Amino acid sequence: MEIQSIYQQAIKFAAAKHSENNQTVPGTMLPYVVHLSNVAMEILVASQHSADFNVAFAVQTALLHDTLEDTSATADEIAREFGSETAQAVQALTKNKNLPHEEQMKDCLRRIQLLPKEVGAVKLADRITNLQKPPGHWNTEKKEQYRNEAMLILQQLQGTNSYLEQRLGKKITEYEQYRNNAPSS
Ligand code: NI
Repeated sequence: MEIQSIYQQAIKFAAAKHSENNQTVPGTMLPYVVHLSNVAMEILVASQHSADFNVAFAVQTALLHDTLEDTSATADEIAREFGSETAQAVQALTKNKNLPHEEQMKDCLRRIQLLPKEVGAVKLADRITNLQKPPGHWNTEKKEQYRNEAMLILQQLQGTNSYLEQRLGKKITEYEQYRNNAPSS
């Protein structure tokens, strides 16, 4: 199947699932699919700078990466529609909410490391997309936590995709400007 058709199929599935409870991009009124398409956009650009990169698998995983965490979708459903490799990738990108909060990201990253590098690329693209101006109500501690978590992702996924690693490094540096800012807008 062409990548364009794969993209369409995955974004339609994900958009329908995330709109079941009108999920929006946190801190905005934008539908959640904006986040998903931004992650897929990062993957498409990165694929042009990456050797041996399975762009179809990576784009599918990017568009579906939050369906298990946030919607009624099941791993079986994803496996039926998109294949078991993609279902496994989305599972690895899904936090285990039974673990203590501070263990959840480390556990996720450990499971991602066991899978093809495209899965790690999606995690990098996800955090690149999310490292924007933080919501006005976040305090300095919360912003620092978020930045530290981004650094952990970058460190643990070293060697996954040099283009996206560079981009995330740059985003982390840029995020510094928000650290001590008084809450605004
Ligand atoms: Ni995400």
